[in-house]
Amino acid sequence: MARERLVTPKPTTAEDEHYNWSLRPKQLSEYIGQRKLVEKLALSIKAALQRGDPLEHILFYGPAGLGKTTLAHIIAREMNSKLISTTGPGLTKPGDLMGILTNLKEGDVLFIDEIHRLNTVVEEFLYPAMEDFQIDFLVDSGPHSRLIKFKLERFTLIGATTRAGLLSAPMRDRFGIFHHLDFYPKEDLKKIVKRSAKLIGIDIDELGAEEVARRSRGTPRIANRLLRRVRDYCQVKADGKITAEISNKALKIEGVDDIGLDDLDRSYLRIITDYYNGGPVGIEAIASTLNEEADTLQDVVEPYLLKIGFVHRTRKGRVASDRCYQHFKISMPSNRQRELL
Ligand SMILES: Nc1ncnc2c1ncn2[C@@H]1O[C@H](COP(=O)(O)OP(=O)(O)O)[C@@H](O)[C@H]1O
Ligand SMILES: [Mg+2]
Repeated sequence: MARERLVTPKPTTAEDEHYNWSLRPKQLSEYIGQRKLVEKLALSIKAALQRGDPLEHILFYGPAGLGKTTLAHIIAREMNSKLISTTGPGLTKPGDLMGILTNLKEGDVLFIDEIHRLNTVVEEFLYPAMEDFQIDFLVDSGPHSRLIKFKLERFTLIGATTRAGLLSAPMRDRFGIFHHLDFYPKEDLKKIVKRSAKLIGIDIDELGAEEVARRSRGTPRIANRLLRRVRDYCQVKADGKITAEISNKALKIEGVDDIGLDDLDRSYLRIITDYYNGGPVGIEAIASTLNEEADTLQDVVEPYLLKIGFVHRTRKGRVASDRCYQHFKISMPSNRQRELL
């Protein structure tokens, strides 16, 4: 299991999830940032409501903590329908899905998180449900087996994935609407921090919010989590308002540097720079040197480091960039300087 990280974009504990829930925007108008996506969704929702149709199936993809689950809930609410929530790994056999599908009412929203982790059998069972709102299942076996078709109510499937590339092509083809969520710019994160501060009842000034936003790795979930730590610090060590100085001190104690990198990021990067001479080095080699799982690194460490250009992914493996060397104030091996972009 991965070590505990303050900056992991995934939920960590039940308490973390609970806190998260309390800060979740409930309607589209409360959802901060991702303007293009929000506009397109608002339009689709309005059109579907006018026609009295369920929404087309939607796929959200992008790194963890950016608001995919939140959007699924918002959509169900805006469509005045119910959300039924499950996960790819939680559906191990068609039977698991059959009960859920046959209980859906017209217009209900079925949310499948981590949809790239559905197994093939369940995935194939889902195809006719998505396409024709019906399921086919086999009764009896041997010579008496028959294929029974069962009609479903028209529902909307919302899938979420951090790895769109792992989704099979037939699965992808069955979604009518695709939305990619990208990391949030600092200005949006600042708004999110201010909104959350208000909801948890703590005063924060502009610069205080900016400091938290700057370290949030473009990720609302991390912004909220950092805010909570800063609040605790503020409560114990200072009184009243969160300022830049308080944010700074609190997050320094947590080992989060001024651009939001923590120990795991630093170890990951230093392995590439110090151990593998700047790369290229395969993810598996980095993972085993770090004693972490390659999947964890790919899901919760690399997306942001790639985004800020500290590492590049090449066919031969990961390569540390110029910017990475500058951040750590170390010099790049001379034989590498020429090769780099
Ligand atoms: N656009 C947004 N505006 C305000 N808060 C947001 C926004 N997107 C995400 N959040 C906050 O971040 C948390 C994580 O979002 P979530 O939907 O669970 O992410 P994902 O499902 O993509 O991992 C939510 O609980 C919510 O509080
Ligand atoms: Mg989620």
